[in-house]
Amino acid sequence: MSNAPSTLQAFRASLLHFHADPAFSDAAHAWHADGLLVVDAAGRIVAAGDYAALEGTLPFGTPVTDWSGKIICPGFIDTHLHFPQTDMIASPAPGLLPWLETYTFPTEGRFADPAHARATADFFLDELLRNGTTTASVYCTVHADSVDALFEASAARNLRMAAGKVLMDRHCPDFLRDTADMRASEDLIRRWHGKGRAMYAITPRFAPTSTEAQLAATGELARAFPDTIIQTHVAENRDECAWVRELFPQQRSYLSVYEHYGLMRPRALFGHCIWLDDEDFRLMADTGSAIAHCPTSNLFLGSGLFDMARADAAGALVSLGTDVGAGTSFSILQTMNEAYKVARLKGSYLPALRMFYLATLGAARSMQLEGTIGNFAAGAEADFIVLDPKATPLLARRTANAGTLEETLFALALLGDDRAIRATYAAGRLVHEREELPA
Ligand code: GUN
Ligand code: ZN
Repeated sequence: MSNAPSTLQAFRASLLHFHADPAFSDAAHAWHADGLLVVDAAGRIVAAGDYAALEGTLPFGTPVTDWSGKIICPGFIDTHLHFPQTDMIASPAPGLLPWLETYTFPTEGRFADPAHARATADFFLDELLRNGTTTASVYCTVHADSVDALFEASAARNLRMAAGKVLMDRHCPDFLRDTADMRASEDLIRRWHGKGRAMYAITPRFAPTSTEAQLAATGELARAFPDTIIQTHVAENRDECAWVRELFPQQRSYLSVYEHYGLMRPRALFGHCIWLDDEDFRLMADTGSAIAHCPTSNLFLGSGLFDMARADAAGALVSLGTDVGAGTSFSILQTMNEAYKVARLKGSYLPALRMFYLATLGAARSMQLEGTIGNFAAGAEADFIVLDPKATPLLARRTANAGTLEETLFALALLGDDRAIRATYAAGRLVHEREELPA
């Protein structure tokens, strides 16, 4: 064996990741109580398994970071949030439409200033990393500079991020009004899509703020760049749904508007999906589009309760989104907490293992990034987090009594937040580390 310095590094901890959806498979997850994650110099997974089996395979001198007592899982993937709304999180309003008018549009107007966009992007990404989110699908503002700001900050941290310029050309203030001309979006796609780990997201805000001309042009753009993400909102709020029925009376449903303009396809992410009917859910499944379930936002704005069981019955892809700034937390753990309660209110039950699947492999599948992120398959990008089941006195006390993995994960989801994220790694590199509580 050579004495040359190792190009590998390894991490010892309990390991959790998924091969399949636990709602549809009995052998969906992999768990190694004393595990080892091996990462190469390019930031890719080499192996994930039992420490005892893998330790002897490491070349002499391979550094092993010891996170024993912690759980390593893939970094969380947040499939729906708005970086310019960071500064207005927790702004009260009686429902979606007044919230947009009163807080959202004025706040997004400030992103005409590129320096403001850059500073906010830095804070936003650091906040994601503190919360264990290594990939997100991010709405910027109508300003092209806001997209550059987000992707520049993301490239500086070597993160896999999707983001795009918001498109809206009606029912919004003049200072945010765009046109049906897609050249700015096309320039951004050419500048960023596939550059390093950046992915472009074509981002019509929602049907009410786009003219038919803009929706048609957006659909053409999506056809011209079929491996981009598409992201928008649908069926979030009853007043919004009534408005869409008035604006598009010829369409069968709100979701049909997007189908009509060619905006439903694999890699299309639809935020909320609360007021869909069974035909809509089938359409989601048939087109390979994905649902971003945003429970903290839906409870905050009083939008409604997403029906996971109906989505599952249709076989639609589902993932979790924080929807900051209507969402009330950057934490995917807190998003799980609220998703669990919403499921209970809808008469169904969401196990913790399923929630961890939705936040990792489920989201990767929703973005057609399976094999790239979201689990520890060999060759995948090594984005992972170190969860601390003893992060707070209460978590320590509760998890000491946990009899099963499900109970430990459930406690982390219900009681955890950014404090439970001990460390975050992107492409094998430490990008966030939290001080440990004194024993
Ligand atoms: N619908 C249209 N725009 C938005 C937004 O910014 N946030 C939410 N939650 N819903 C929207
Ligand atoms: Zn949103």
